[in-house]
Amino acid sequence: MSELSVDHLLGIKYLNTADINLIFETADQFKEVINRPIKKVPSLRDITIANLFFENSTRTRLSFELAEKRLSADVINFSAASSSVKKGETLIDTVNNILAMKVDVVVMRHPNPGAGVFLSKHVNASIVNAGDGAHEHPTQALLDSYSIRERLGEVAGKKVVIVGDILHSRVALSNIFALKKQGAEVKVCGPKTLIPKYIESLGVGVETDLKKALQWCDVANMLRVQNERMEISYFPTTREYTQQYGVNKKLLDSLDKEIVIMHPGPINRGVEITSDVADAEQAIILDQVENGVAIRMAVLYLLASKIKQ
Ligand code: CP
Repeated sequence: MSELSVDHLLGIKYLNTADINLIFETADQFKEVINRPIKKVPSLRDITIANLFFENSTRTRLSFELAEKRLSADVINFSAASSSVKKGETLIDTVNNILAMKVDVVVMRHPNPGAGVFLSKHVNASIVNAGDGAHEHPTQALLDSYSIRERLGEVAGKKVVIVGDILHSRVALSNIFALKKQGAEVKVCGPKTLIPKYIESLGVGVETDLKKALQWCDVANMLRVQNERMEISYFPTTREYTQQYGVNKKLLDSLDKEIVIMHPGPINRGVEITSDVADAEQAIILDQVENGVAIRMAVLYLLASKIKQ
């Protein structure tokens, strides 16, 4: 197979295992390119990409922009905070006005779950979901699995625990879909209040004891508590959360093996992870960021290849 089964990247849910393998094999080639002295290739020279960010982002926005520029695409950036959205313009009107400028691909982050799916049904462009509310963050899950593959050789058969605020996390849901499709074993760990009731129906185990979860896993993906998505309190205090669900060096050293530590960022140092863990050799947090550029180059290249046909 040399092309994706989808015309948009709306969620990992819509990909098959062959799609994920194709994205990884393509990313391998782009990773080699971005480590050369000349990091640019002409692959998307005739493609225009709009980055639409209706919600804050550091890593995803910069990573997409860099990926697009490394592929020689024409790039326009839109931030809702400084746009006519503030004057009441709708999502579809906003996007159709941007598409009238002959845009081929829209990369969008939006606070509403399903915003990408909605857009893909109403506009004539390839849509890439860069995070839609608490729903999916597909490129994050792809770069996370790619980073596990890079560190441990393969994803199949590996035991991965996702720790923290599962309830509000698009990273958790996309990672669960991606890891299960590749044959990994997945558990979630956190306070019961932050674990959705349906989670076991996705083939995922639940562990509320962090030490047991860490002792079980090969990889721990530590998530941030998403205070901005919480309207009520889900645990007594941040201090108590950290005592029960924060990873520190002493806890890691008490395990009888070395596990890989991941974090999608942004990190709350001293809450879900201490600085000595975040900066340790067994943490691959900056590898994840580096791999994000290669993964996004691969996704954009493969989607744009379908437009050009
Ligand atoms: N991991 C991630 O999505 O980070 P940003 O919110 O900074 O893009």
